[in-house]
Amino acid sequence: MKVEYEPKFPADYRPGIGIIGCGGIVKHAHLPAYNKHNLNVVGAYDVSEEATRGVKERFAVRNVFSSLNELLEHPEIEVVDIATHPAERVELIHRALQAGKHVLAQKPLALDVESARGVVEEAERRGLRLAVNQNGRWSPPWRIATLLVQQGEIGDVLAVTHLFDVHFGWVTETKFDKVPHWNIYDYSVHWIDISRCWLERKTPTAVRAREYHTPVQPPESQAHWGMWTDIAYADGSSALIRSVGCARTETPGHPFWIHGSEGTIRGSALGADYVELEKDGITQRWHLRGAWYPDGFAGTMGELLCAISEDREPYNSARHNLLSLQLTLAACRSSDQDGAPIPVGENPS
Ligand SMILES: NC(=O)c1ccc[n+]([C@@H]2O[C@H](COP(=O)([O-])OP(=O)(O)OC[C@H]3O[C@@H](n4cnc5c(N)ncnc54)[C@H](O)[C@@H]3O)[C@@H](O)[C@H]2O)c1
Repeated sequence: MKVEYEPKFPADYRPGIGIIGCGGIVKHAHLPAYNKHNLNVVGAYDVSEEATRGVKERFAVRNVFSSLNELLEHPEIEVVDIATHPAERVELIHRALQAGKHVLAQKPLALDVESARGVVEEAERRGLRLAVNQNGRWSPPWRIATLLVQQGEIGDVLAVTHLFDVHFGWVTETKFDKVPHWNIYDYSVHWIDISRCWLERKTPTAVRAREYHTPVQPPESQAHWGMWTDIAYADGSSALIRSVGCARTETPGHPFWIHGSEGTIRGSALGADYVELEKDGITQRWHLRGAWYPDGFAGTMGELLCAISEDREPYNSARHNLLSLQLTLAACRSSDQDGAPIPVGENPS
């Protein structure tokens, strides 16, 4: 079965892109993806001069702007890519929307659902497109799985299971070590988001989560490497994300299973990548081109550009992302209460 899973771009629309916040992830993934697909990066702005040093030469960024206004006033820029941390993000999204720009915002969209809803409503009032950089949605194994689920290949999705079969030793020396609820809020937000995509149209009722230090963590590390999050749905379906966080393996990855009423999809993303569909006694495995880094970042921007040119809501729209943010924040609250169930209530979108 052929599945069109690679990033897509409009045939004849290559608007100017301006990047706000030019830190680690922009240089590691946004710009490599945009260069690979010949996107039109007009310029970048960062409060730190150090952050934008060398990006013109390395990544074909045409300008380094010395102020936010200079970027927002540039007539060629139609799309603004905001890749700061979430504390600054909402204000910057408002500024970009007020300047009449479409926006791609890094994840997690905001620190709270209320302010996220505020930017969603402002974008809609202004007739602008606001998308969230949930680039995992375009990692090849997850994208194929999503398309198979949408095509009904495994029937009704009953259970989603993820395992972080990785070692989080790298976190200790980084800024992420100090992010509150790093494992849930900053990292698992991609897994929570994809799980709710696979369980689309079902109603989540409660979230439970725990984060904990594994026995092998160095005493100075703050972020919890161990974590589990469980999302319960009204019809008995569920999603479970478990972070081992201290795995000793030569083939680290993030294996997943989607159990459906008529078949099973299994695979791994962000390491040991593969995906297969088992149905009616036959197992089909896909030959994968590309990887989450950097192609997922082409996927999110490509979807936003297609949505602008086709005058429709992007699949990764901020409105769609409100539920992902709500579930993520509910998991953080549950973790604060040692795994107590947090009711999800009304779908925010
Ligand atoms: N797969 C992914 O999608 C992925 C991976 C890593 C990080 N991220 C997310 O990307 C965001 C940034 O992460 P990072 O690792 O690049 O962080 P970083 O600290 O390396 O970069 C952030 C940059 O934003 C700049 N900045 C801060 N305030 C600004 C402002 N008002 N205007 C302009 N620039 C400003 C900082 O100077 C810094 O250079 C975080 O939200 C993180 O969760 C996403």
